[in-house]
Amino acid sequence: MKLTLPFLSLALFFAVLDSAHSRVLPVESAPYARNSGGIPALVPRSPPSAPDSVLHRRVTRHIRPEYPSVSRRQTVDNGGINTTTNPQPIRGSKGAPFLHDSNTPIDRQNPDSISPPPTDAGNVPNLKWSFSLSHSRLLNGGWVREQTVTDLPSSPGVAAAEQRLSPYAYRELHWHRVAEWGLVLNGTVRITANDEEDRNYVGDAGVGDLWSFPAGIPHTLQAGPEGAEYLLVFDDGNFDAAGTTFMLDDWIAHTPREVLAENFGWNASVFGSIPSPDPYLVPAGQNESWLSLEEARQAVSTNPGGEATPYVYALSQQNRTQAPGGGGWVKVTDYRQFPSSPTLASAYVHVEKGGLRELHWHKNAEWGYIVKGKARATAFAGGATARTFDLQAGDSWVFPTNYGHYLQNVGEEPLEFIEIFRGANFGDRVRFDDFSLTQWLALLPPSVAAKQLNVTEALVRQLKRAKQVIVAG
Ligand SMILES: *[C@@H]1O[C@H](CO)[C@@H](O)[C@H](O)[C@H]1NC(C)=O
Ligand SMILES: *[C@@H]1O[C@H](CO)[C@@H](O)[C@H](O)[C@H]1NC(C)=O
Ligand SMILES: *[C@@H]1O[C@H](CO)[C@@H](O)[C@H](O)[C@H]1NC(C)=O
Ligand SMILES: *[C@@H]1O[C@H](CO)[C@@H](O)[C@H](O)[C@H]1NC(C)=O
Ligand SMILES: *[C@@H]1O[C@H](CO)[C@@H](O)[C@H](O)[C@H]1NC(C)=O
Ligand SMILES: *[C@@H]1O[C@H](CO)[C@@H](O)[C@H](O)[C@H]1NC(C)=O
Repeated sequence: MKLTLPFLSLALFFAVLDSAHSRVLPVESAPYARNSGGIPALVPRSPPSAPDSVLHRRVTRHIRPEYPSVSRRQTVDNGGINTTTNPQPIRGSKGAPFLHDSNTPIDRQNPDSISPPPTDAGNVPNLKWSFSLSHSRLLNGGWVREQTVTDLPSSPGVAAAEQRLSPYAYRELHWHRVAEWGLVLNGTVRITANDEEDRNYVGDAGVGDLWSFPAGIPHTLQAGPEGAEYLLVFDDGNFDAAGTTFMLDDWIAHTPREVLAENFGWNASVFGSIPSPDPYLVPAGQNESWLSLEEARQAVSTNPGGEATPYVYALSQQNRTQAPGGGGWVKVTDYRQFPSSPTLASAYVHVEKGGLRELHWHKNAEWGYIVKGKARATAFAGGATARTFDLQAGDSWVFPTNYGHYLQNVGEEPLEFIEIFRGANFGDRVRFDDFSLTQWLALLPPSVAAKQLNVTEALVRQLKRAKQVIVAG
């Protein structure tokens, strides 16, 4: 890199300053803090003004006097999303434009990271992961990309993957230490599974349908004629740990041949040319046959153990529950509708343009994935800290247990996403739950909420007592 003269002299200037005083220069007395006309100015800091929210003042007084004050100037900013096409780290009088290149396409996708609303505060860790940042494993027959706890450390309880199968390709025979939950994003997936009571199952899942295999259930997935893409969710974030996934080829390859021969009652020479371990996906053969679901079921119907509880749930056929708030619909699914999914509960949420999944929280951490559309969400982490994230199709997030949050549809199209929950302890049975901020306030004696918010009781009485879930825009 070539250093230009002004940069060199600036660097020298700082070097001299540094050695002379050997201390850190306060920002306000640094030369670049003064408006020098040429370089884009850093506007002088406005003097601190008194906090003007009654809630804030209470917190400041009673709990943590060192909270930074929320200045009057900041609260004038409505906190709206900054949709400029050339985003800069500027908000109102704060920040300064880049003097060097930034990764503008990523900045554009994350306007609330580069120019956060003034209500954000403190050090909330990253809670977002884009599958586009995952390492993709390209295989014969498709691909897979994962998000585990090493990608998103705030999600120790849930890991996930996107997976693609070309027409008729298989995800090889395997089972897991953890439960596997799936949502079909495109195409058809044929599922087989066996349970611990000698029963077997064959079923098809189409777009918008789910499957779920509790820990230990051996299973296969095969794409239909159009191929398939689906989301996988697991009830442990450390999905790549040893002892999590057990694949057929892997086991065969690591067992003495004569033991295999004795086990299966076959001639050991059969195992002279076994495939390499861990193909992961198995592409379709040249003349792969695709049986009708009836034919596929008949092929195993002679099992005296009978058919297992369905591992596929036709979520696409479940009636939508219209949100009382008028902003969309939801489909909640847990073990009450889908007994094969005791450890993972879900809500598929559709938010119309301009709508808002209302301010709420859950007893358990929420792991989420955007199926379509664009969202903005703020995680309120307590202790006067909050952080806003921007999300779009293929992005995932986690709101740790009890974090307050909302999701706002900031796109031109409907927003659809999935919320996933697992219990506090691995293997716990879990059902969907949520706490609505509005409903909480509406179900208090009006004077209580009115006093706390410093609004009239008449306003509090207007709050809906029924959970609104999604508020219309
Ligand atoms: C409540 O709001 C009014 C303005 O509507 C203001 O004058 C008053 O100081 C506020 N009270 C508290 C306790 O902040
Ligand atoms: C939005 O961003 C642009 C450039 O990044 C900046 O000039 C503008 O002040 C920002 N808007 C607000 C409300 O801060
Ligand atoms: C499925 O994939 C096909 C082919 O790319 C595409 O035309 C279709 O819109 C996709 N459907 C969904 C639900 O994404
Ligand atoms: C096993 O197969 C080999 C090779 O085909 C054959 O020579 C041998 O006789 C077979 N052994 C038995 C016990 O059938
Ligand atoms: C596939 O089917 C074609 C036509 O039926 C046949 O000629 C060919 O040998 C088959 N290939 C394989 C690998 O079975
Ligand atoms: C779904 O809604 C339709 C029409 O309102 C109704 O006839 C049907 O019984 C509902 N199905 C379920 C499973 O509730």
